[in-house]
Amino acid sequence: MRTEALTAEPVSEFAAEVRAGLLHAGQKELPSKYLYDDVGSALFEVISVLPEYGLTRADERLLRRHAKDVVSQLPPSLVVAELGSGSGKKTRWILEALARQQRTYYCPIEISAKALAMCHRELGDLERISIVGFERQYLDGLLEVAARREPGEHLLVLFLGSTIGNFDHPAGIEFLKQVRGILVPHDALLLGTDLEKPIPQLASAYDDPLGVTAAFNLNLLARINRELDADFDLGQFEHVARFNPHTSSMEMHLRSKRAQIVSVVGAGFSVRFHPGETIWTETSHKYSHPEILQLAMASGFRCQAQWVDEDWPFAENLFVAV
Ligand code: AVI
Repeated sequence: MRTEALTAEPVSEFAAEVRAGLLHAGQKELPSKYLYDDVGSALFEVISVLPEYGLTRADERLLRRHAKDVVSQLPPSLVVAELGSGSGKKTRWILEALARQQRTYYCPIEISAKALAMCHRELGDLERISIVGFERQYLDGLLEVAARREPGEHLLVLFLGSTIGNFDHPAGIEFLKQVRGILVPHDALLLGTDLEKPIPQLASAYDDPLGVTAAFNLNLLARINRELDADFDLGQFEHVARFNPHTSSMEMHLRSKRAQIVSVVGAGFSVRFHPGETIWTETSHKYSHPEILQLAMASGFRCQAQWVDEDWPFAENLFVAV
């Protein structure tokens, strides 16, 4: 593969990561976190109500049905911190159950100011819940929340929606170890994990007939065009969703339909694509039960309880810091 320098240095972290991912020797890749600009986040909201994509509904059902049980297993005097709260809609059940027992601080941690504002609108009416938002990266925000707690107060960290599955397995363990490093024994983590399920079910969830997931994926190239002055021709790439049995994960890729060269002026490079070559844009890991136990153990937690949805295999896991 040949590349040409167009300008001097990349101008932002986004530019640097796009450059590194597309000039990577071998499999080209882009970090999945960049799927979520305003357009991508709106498309993900649509995905979450598609009949083929049951993950979000399963997560919500479990939280609605079992919030009281979850809360009954937690120590008194809690601060709740949520990593990537989104609109905060599904967190309502947990907060309502907690508010019945005690006045509680809820600290959503989000890099998006818009999501934090939505969260305030969605949950601001809850009595006995005080919302303090943190516009930060997950771990920076969690460090701040932990530093502000009063002696004797415990933390409940929420990491819902199987976002952990968007890390590859070793990176997921590393991330949870870092979360654990900020906590003290008996603090808790409520972790949502999507479970293994038949491949045809996964295939239609990640390549829906309406093409919403395809648009979500292709928007990443549109975003690079918008923000980095690139000239991706969206008609010359197609969405691919495939199951990788070696890693037990659904992968999203963008496949080049022909030989082409794309310039990304704002990141100072151009890149050549062969016909059929792909850019790997997302991993969505599907967990087995033993793997969840191993994830807890490897990162310094004990899995104290688990609730599994019957319609769409998905688990809420209550990990307690040991
Ligand atoms: C946010 N995350 C858990 C979703 C998933 O299923 O991995 C993102 C997504 N990608 C395609 N559809 C939904």
